[in-house]
Amino acid sequence: MASENTIADTVWSSRLGFILASASSAIGLGAIWKFPFWAGTNGGAAFIVPFLIFTFTIGIVLVMAECAMGRAGRGSAVHALKRVGGPVFGIVGGIAVLNAYIILTYYSVIGGWCVSYMADSFIGNVVNGDPKILSNHFNALVSNGTVNVFFMFLYLTATCAVVALGVEKGIEKVAKYLMPLLFVLMIFIIIRSLMMPGSWEGMQFLFSFNWEQVSGATILNAMGFTFFSLSLGAGIMVTYGSYLSSHTDIPGSSVWVAFLSTQAALLAGVMIIPAVFAFGMDPAAGTGLVFITIPMIFEHMPLADVLAAAFYVCLFIAAITSSVSLLEVVVAYLINEWGMRRRSATALCWITLFILASIQALSFSSLSWVEFNGMSLFDFSDYVCSNILMPLGGLSIALLAGWKAWPVMKEQMLAIRPHSVFTIGWIRLTISVLAPALVIVVLISGI
Ligand code: PFF
Repeated sequence: MASENTIADTVWSSRLGFILASASSAIGLGAIWKFPFWAGTNGGAAFIVPFLIFTFTIGIVLVMAECAMGRAGRGSAVHALKRVGGPVFGIVGGIAVLNAYIILTYYSVIGGWCVSYMADSFIGNVVNGDPKILSNHFNALVSNGTVNVFFMFLYLTATCAVVALGVEKGIEKVAKYLMPLLFVLMIFIIIRSLMMPGSWEGMQFLFSFNWEQVSGATILNAMGFTFFSLSLGAGIMVTYGSYLSSHTDIPGSSVWVAFLSTQAALLAGVMIIPAVFAFGMDPAAGTGLVFITIPMIFEHMPLADVLAAAFYVCLFIAAITSSVSLLEVVVAYLINEWGMRRRSATALCWITLFILASIQALSFSSLSWVEFNGMSLFDFSDYVCSNILMPLGGLSIALLAGWKAWPVMKEQMLAIRPHSVFTIGWIRLTISVLAPALVIVVLISGI
């Protein structure tokens, strides 16, 4: 890799490095923290079925489109999209950068919760069999503004440190070793939780589909989650795609990224929801679900404290690799468009994000009176980013790749190996018609 202070020369060291880094951007708190509680509050299968449909139709093709536009434009999201699509798409790139920045303000708060649980698990202060004690533990953390800001600060600082070290040294190394461990641990936990009496009710909740529970809001939430979980519409795949060497097959790599990320979400669902039923808890309990359920499952396993510590370390790694991707979008933009050096760009983000993320952290305590449309600042930011800005970003990319720059898209798809006419036809139909139509219909009906 050439200089870390220019974007155009930065390249992933291998195809696997790219897949792992993109998959670890995708796999994060979305899959493990958000998916179980969203499936819980949106009726289980009524949420999961549309999520899977969105992922394997428009999701995969949009990952391909973002990577293709990134590799063709070679640069930050703004630079690459401007180069491929003209000034209007430069603005789309700018909105994506802003979106990534806003996501970081609240993502860092949940990241802080992970740090806190990780620290507690090291001193054996997490595992417990009493749901009351566990929810008090969670509520005490969330409602204490100072503690919340402190852990968010630690998390944000760690994120900035990885980004300051640069793409190859930081992101790739961390991703390569710890993501597989997370999968192994989740499988352990699943086996244990499925052995508990009552857990199969949870499986039914997750997988038996009932039309009556599907509403416009559920579908909008499922679409929003698809974008969030695949890291779409926030410039990430454009930025990571711009680091792709010309020898990497984009369609094949994109299918892998989507597959791994969906797998993580489903595993997390199966890890949490059956246990929720086994313990007689409410699946719609909300943001604390993962933090309250997991320690209870461990209570029923040997080596509980060690496994809990390993789990929270992996959760922290899953979270930080996603935050790193979000920050990389912003930093790449500052390097590319403002001519800043990597370290100064990261420092600027560190300071400004700390201020904004503190406000988000306080939205659970001293600022809980601030409401937008009946939602706290934290929920409102997530709603706007996941359900509106990311789908709109995806819609713009679809219009660019499917219409204005289709020849560029096609050339990128076929750059390494000849995909069949059928595959290319399917990609074209999905990107130019299906994706825009679905996003527009769901946005209108859901809002
Ligand atoms: N996909 C990440 C997750 O599921 O946790 C979060 C995320 C990363 C969202 C990057 C959006 C994004 F652009």
